[in-house]
Amino acid sequence: MTQADGLSYKDYLKVDRLLSLQKPRSKPAQHDETLFIIIHQTFELWFKEILNELEAVHRSLMKLNVREAIRLMNRVVTIEKLLIDQIHVLETMRPEDFLKFRDVLSTSSAFQSLQFREIEFFSGLKDPRFLLPLNRVAPSDYNRLKKRFEKPSIWDAFTFILMKHGFRVQLSPGEQDMGERERRKRKLEKETKAIVDLFSSEQHPDIRDLSEALLAHDQNFWLWRYHHMAVVERMIGMKIGSGSPHVTDVTGGLSSGVPYLKTTLSKRFYPALWKARTGFPIPSEEE
Ligand code: HEM
Repeated sequence: MTQADGLSYKDYLKVDRLLSLQKPRSKPAQHDETLFIIIHQTFELWFKEILNELEAVHRSLMKLNVREAIRLMNRVVTIEKLLIDQIHVLETMRPEDFLKFRDVLSTSSAFQSLQFREIEFFSGLKDPRFLLPLNRVAPSDYNRLKKRFEKPSIWDAFTFILMKHGFRVQLSPGEQDMGERERRKRKLEKETKAIVDLFSSEQHPDIRDLSEALLAHDQNFWLWRYHHMAVVERMIGMKIGSGSPHVTDVTGGLSSGVPYLKTTLSKRFYPALWKARTGFPIPSEEE
């Protein structure tokens, strides 16, 4: 961008277009609705950037470039720290101010955020209940989500790296034929053992660093869920929510709100990374 080519900051970033996208629906306009819209829009922008980075992490791992994957994963983790902080800006909004415009949100909820589910799926947390054709999801969004669900995840790429370095994470043909539940159990056991082995040896420091970056990504999502839930309880207490009805316990198409959010706190992208910690060996005195 030089002065010579006549491109301005405003044109490059499409600032006019960007600033025309905050349109409060409340009448008379409620002051805090602008904050509410901007917070959600900036979250969606950061979600886009996280997906962009996760794509690059995946590509790097497929090329066995672990150092580059760590570098970019650390960027994701840094952005997520920002998002954990950002949710608290909403605490400057008083519950009564939110309730003045809550009605205009109608049945819309960030529960329907496509990119949020894409990050979950791409990271490795694939809950098929989020794939049921939803009445409020456009077919193009549904197809996008389905593609993401079917594509190999970051965790698949990580286990590919483990395999390439001689760790046994693959199921045997006999195990492949087992029922879904047993197969999952065996897979988790193998992955957990591989991580314990990884941390029991001096070799592969890069893969250990990569696993720590993945763990930080998982932990930040978990923390975000917790912080978001606290902000929601502060804002609406135990009032019912407004998300899509198929996953949550529902009354008349509404989610249970905070009780639903509590159920999400146990979600993890990488259960093997957490489980392995219990099995990490205690270093001997000489080490
Ligand atoms: C006043 C502020 C907010 C309130 C009262 C609120 C309320 C809720 C409620 C009640 C739910 C449960 C589903 C539902 O009933 O809709 C939910 C889910 C969710 N919210 Fe918020 N929220 C707020 C701000 C935000 C912001 C700023 C984001 C950022 C994108 C966000 C992202 C989400 C996501 C991703 C879910 C789905 C979580 C899951 O299913 O694991 N929320 N929210």
